Amino acid sequence: MSERPQGDVGDTRGWNVKVLDHPLVQHKVTLLRDKRTNVRDFRALVHEITLLMGYEALRDLRLVETTVETPLAETTAWTLAGRKLAVVGILRAGLSMVEAVLELVPHARVGHIGLYRDPVTHLPVEYYGKLPAEIGERDVVLVDPMLATGGSAVAAIGFLKDAGAQRIRLLSVIGAPEGVAAVHDAHPDVAITLAALDSHLNDHAYIVPGLGDAGDRIFGTR
Ligand code: PRP
Ligand code: URA
Repeated sequence: MSERPQGDVGDTRGWNVKVLDHPLVQHKVTLLRDKRTNVRDFRALVHEITLLMGYEALRDLRLVETTVETPLAETTAWTLAGRKLAVVGILRAGLSMVEAVLELVPHARVGHIGLYRDPVTHLPVEYYGKLPAEIGERDVVLVDPMLATGGSAVAAIGFLKDAGAQRIRLLSVIGAPEGVAAVHDAHPDVAITLAALDSHLNDHAYIVPGLGDAGDRIFGTR
């Protein structure tokens, strides 16, 4: 049994991507990949992984100084700078990550972008979009567990930018190099956080080794 070397997250080239190299995340991703993992556990794992990813992805939120009175003394302290935040889920599978981001930032507003991949062309087809007001003033956390060809994420980010969004982060559990490159090429300003960067896409544009069809595993469909 060999030990995984620290920092071995795959080849991230010059992309604007961070792959979480944390043992807890890696352990949970392995359980998520396992084809025997049932729907209930799958959802719980996506939620837990998103909490850990969100903690890391929001590391650069700005703080401002405040004062707080403890039972012992008044002290200077730090509080979030009050910039508004929106979490936007790409339907369907992105729904599984929204609650975890809300657990971290309970006052965030929520948006949805409906996209599915055409089974033949693998290109994204848009069917719904509803975003919070003042999206241009918000830090946007876009969530979707799978970043495969990147078509869906590129389209969703385009939709957000057309609506005025300026500060966007993308959280995906598993990414393929093809998808990370596509998002980086189209939207280099968007920071991507992944729990795992996998090897490649197969002929059906599924991530290998991946975890299969995320939407089906989350919702128990098919
Ligand atoms: C999955 C996934 C992403 C997309 C990724 O959704 O949740 O949205 O595929 O693939 P891409 O990077 O090649 O665009 P899917 O289209 O299966 O829809 P669903 O969430 O409704 O199941
Ligand atoms: N969508 C999924 O759910 N899984 C993949 O591997 C690729 C796209």
